Amino acid sequence: MADIIDGKAIAEDVVAKVKTQTATLAEHGVTPGLAVVIVGEDPASQVYVASKSRRAKECGFHSVQHSLPAETSEDALVALVEELNADPAIHGILVQLPLPGHIDEARIIQTIDPDKDVDGFHFINVGRLGTGALDSAFVPCTPAGAMLMLERVRGRDLSGLSAVVIGRSNIVGKPMANLLLAANATVTVAHSRTKDLPALAATADILVAAVGRPEMVRGDWVKPGATVIDVGINRIPAPEKGEGKTRLVGDVAFAEAKERAGAITPVPGGVGPMTIAMLMANTLTSAFRTAGLEPPAF
Ligand code: GUN
Repeated sequence: MADIIDGKAIAEDVVAKVKTQTATLAEHGVTPGLAVVIVGEDPASQVYVASKSRRAKECGFHSVQHSLPAETSEDALVALVEELNADPAIHGILVQLPLPGHIDEARIIQTIDPDKDVDGFHFINVGRLGTGALDSAFVPCTPAGAMLMLERVRGRDLSGLSAVVIGRSNIVGKPMANLLLAANATVTVAHSRTKDLPALAATADILVAAVGRPEMVRGDWVKPGATVIDVGINRIPAPEKGEGKTRLVGDVAFAEAKERAGAITPVPGGVGPMTIAMLMANTLTSAFRTAGLEPPAF
């Protein structure tokens, strides 16, 4: 039976460190500032954004939230981002995605000052990560959190280990592959066009699933002793809990996979809680850099 990697506990460790380091920054007269921008009324986004703002306050940050109506123009959103770029009290800017259809997401992301881009979505940060310039990059929060969990099991140096990442999104799959490569793993990125995915997955010492398909990765895809990182968060019907009820599952069939894996992240309580914790870590890092101080390692 696999060890279960407790994302909630690791996220609490990260947040505890953020709080301590925020107190250190206060001695230099600096308070980390995070601005979260949401456009429209998407209920899931509202919940995410509220918890980001709440966590930021809990960390002792200057936390501002801009909630704009769905009909906000692209130019008005660009103007707000430019205002936040110029505001010295703000170290991190997060524009919640998806944006309404009439707004060009790429233009908005590229308007964010790369040195305040705590989501790590700007081309400059993608390039920094891709070239291994991790000292100046912001790394997207979900893969950054997944790496911290992996580190608890495998350490920082993954030399000699093979990693298979299933999924090639810009937000998770590609940055995850770059992080694994930077940690010396031998990395394969698999996706919907990959031939014989189960056989490929079964070669992996480290298996990362980030496809958004409930329980797609079966137990017999897992190499005995592998570390399995499940990034999926899928809501599926749960008639056994009552009519109309749902439950969360990952991209991995957990009950099967845990019989073969050496260690595995659960859903919920795995990678999910790490994402917001890493947003706090990135915002703190930004404030340290702006102050000309060495940021703490997480
Ligand atoms: N929507 C879902 N996840 C994310 C994220 O990590 N960052 C932003 N900006 N929007 C999201």
